[in-house]
Amino acid sequence: MTEPIITDTPTDEARLPVAVVSPRGASRLREGHLWVYRSDTVELPFEAGVYRVQDTRGRRLGWALVNPASEISVRLLTREDAPADEAFLRARLHAAIDFRESLGIDADGYRVVHAEADGLPGLVVDRYADVLVVQNGTAALEPHLPALVEVLVERFSPRGVLARHEGRVRTLEGLPTGTSVLYGDVPDTVEVRERGTHGDVRYLVEPWRGQKTGSFLDQRENRALLGAHARGEALDVFSYHGSFGLHLAPRARHVELIDSSESALARARENMLLNGHANVTYTEANAFDRLRELEAAGRSYATISLDPPALAKTRRDLQNAYGAYKELNLRCLKLLEPGGVMATTSCSFHVSEGDFYAMVQDAAADARVRVRVLARRGGASDHPELLGVPETRYLKFALLQRTE
Ligand SMILES: C[S@@+](CC[C@H](N)C(=O)[O-])C[C@H]1O[C@@H](n2cnc3c(N)ncnc32)[C@H](O)[C@@H]1O
Repeated sequence: MTEPIITDTPTDEARLPVAVVSPRGASRLREGHLWVYRSDTVELPFEAGVYRVQDTRGRRLGWALVNPASEISVRLLTREDAPADEAFLRARLHAAIDFRESLGIDADGYRVVHAEADGLPGLVVDRYADVLVVQNGTAALEPHLPALVEVLVERFSPRGVLARHEGRVRTLEGLPTGTSVLYGDVPDTVEVRERGTHGDVRYLVEPWRGQKTGSFLDQRENRALLGAHARGEALDVFSYHGSFGLHLAPRARHVELIDSSESALARARENMLLNGHANVTYTEANAFDRLRELEAAGRSYATISLDPPALAKTRRDLQNAYGAYKELNLRCLKLLEPGGVMATTSCSFHVSEGDFYAMVQDAAADARVRVRVLARRGGASDHPELLGVPETRYLKFALLQRTE
């Protein structure tokens, strides 16, 4: 058995195991990516942990989260030579929190740690008012979670910290899955505030059961942007718990929310009540079918949000996904009245920005409408992308206006 490198006392480094990567793996790291696949490694320690990374000529490449059992065996933490010990990990977390503070986010629901882009690969921390939700996706970081939770408690004095350790990523890392309280207590629902163009928006999050960690925080700034254009009849397609609709309702005559999840719509209803909106209807349906019905009924809308789930989960899905995205955009553009504004999104990493805009253009041509682009965006500023790691650039968002 080999010892992981993180210790409280200095160790004789020469005796410690290292991860050796192939020339291809080394080039990938030198070019700016953080991941090395197992096929591009030459030698790995037996156990997951934080280890030094070297190329086949013994040149040092930095320190990484390493897991020999994972397909992504190496996730670089730093190119620096000094050991990445627990103090280093704590400092990374402090820096992530400091960065969010510097953004002056006018909301108490936001992302505190965005994994690779915050130098903490595989780790997500979301804040919902006085509750923090943690998702860890690497075996190497798992033993250090208690230290990281200590930092979260010190900085936020939260009521509770919840681990939502779910999904295929953890299974691939050989980690158990499940939801558990790491600190304090975590209620069923938490009320969160975010700033809209027409004042504050409040919504309830279910940290134990909600999708992702409870909410789609990456669209926070985009929701407020669409809210500034809200008027007339409005549609929120793939509404989840009403996130975009809550920004449309203050100015629209009427908003229809469409989602296939009964529980999401039940919460949407509560959220609308919480904000005093009575101009909303809730349609539990397959969005593809509902859009077809609205078109057949000759309906038209001044404001539309179209925010589907990731339709391309793998590269192989790409062709079908392109068709599905195009159908949704085509139908919404047909429903949009001239002068109307539509927000359209893809959160599939496999759909490139180029593919996304080509798809929208294709849809506009088939719908025989002319659109101008009012804004091209990605995720909110608390969800930065790391240059060189395309996997961190997943959200494409366009604000379109139909001109004729
Ligand atoms: C990306 S989320 C929407 C996020 C939301 N706009 C927000 O900002 O919080 C996608 C939503 O689509 C819903 N959904 C998935 N497939 C659907 C379908 N075929 N028809 C309608 N809704 C669907 C899911 O329940 C989920 O709420």
